[in-house]
Amino acid sequence: MTRLIEPVRTAPVPARPGRAGRAAGRIGWTFVLLTALAVVAYSAVPYFTASLHDLAGDEVGLAPAYAEASPFVQGALYVHIVGGAIALVLGALQFWRGLRERAPRVHRWIGRVYLGGVAVGGVGGLIIAPSSPAGYVGLFGFGALAVLWLVTAFRAYRAIRRRDVPSHQAWMIRNYALTYAGVTLRLWLPLLLLTPLLLGQPWEFDAAFANAYAAVPFLCWLPNLIAAEWLIRRRGLPSYRLPLARA
Ligand code: HEM
Repeated sequence: MTRLIEPVRTAPVPARPGRAGRAAGRIGWTFVLLTALAVVAYSAVPYFTASLHDLAGDEVGLAPAYAEASPFVQGALYVHIVGGAIALVLGALQFWRGLRERAPRVHRWIGRVYLGGVAVGGVGGLIIAPSSPAGYVGLFGFGALAVLWLVTAFRAYRAIRRRDVPSHQAWMIRNYALTYAGVTLRLWLPLLLLTPLLLGQPWEFDAAFANAYAAVPFLCWLPNLIAAEWLIRRRGLPSYRLPLARA
C-alpha cells in the first residue's frame, strides 16, 4: 500500500559544517538553552513556591483555572510541569555535539531521563488538556501536541534500539521541536496580546488574552514541526515528503 507521506533520505549526510555554520549552530543552540532555562525559571518553578489556591489569588500563570480542579487533574498538572521542565532543559543538552562525542554514556543516560520526562509530561498534558481555558481548541490543540510528543519519542527510542542513528536523530529533532512548544507558547502569547495595540485597535486585557489564548494551542507547535522538518532535510536525515513532490 502506498503511504501518503513517507520518510526518505533527502540528501547525502553533509560533511561537518564550515566555520560560519558552526558559529550559527552555537548561537542557535545557546538561544534554545537559555530560553528553555528562562521558561523553567519563570513559568514552572513558581508552581512549587505556594499552593495552587494561594497562587490563584496572586493570578500566577494558569493557577486560577486549576485551583478548583479535582485532585487528579491538579496532580496531573504538577506531574506535567515537572516532566516538561526536565525534558525542556535536558533535551537542549542532547543537541550539544561535544557531549555526544566525548561522553556517549552521559548522552545515553540523559536521553533515558529525557524520555521519562516526555512520557510523564505527555500523559499529564493529555489529562489536563480537557480543562484548558481555551475550550475545544485547547483540548484538540494541546491534545494533538501531547499525542505527537509521545509518538515521536517512541519512534526516536525504537530507532536507536535498532541502531538506526539517522532516524533516531530525525525523530529526536521532531520530538524536541514539540518539547520546545513550552517556550514558543510563551513567546507567541505576549506577541499576540500586544498585536491589537500595535495595530491601533481598542485593547482590553481579558478580551485580548482570550483571543491570543485561542490561537496558541496550535500555534505553539505547528510552526516548530515545519522548522524541524526543514532542519532534518538540511542535515540529510530521513525526512517526510509527499510522493508527488518526488515524482
Ligand atoms: C510538548 C508538549 C506539551 C503539552 C502537550 C503541554 C500541555 C499543556 C496543557 C494542556 C496545559 C494546560 C493549559 C491550559 O489549561 O490551557 C499546560 C500547562 C503548562 N505547561 Fe505544558 N505542555 C507541553 C510542554 C510543556 C513543557 C516542555 C513545559 C516546560 C516547562 C510545560 C510547562 C507547563 C506549565 C508551567 C504549565 C502551566 C501553565 C502556565 O502557567 O503557563 N509544558 N501544558
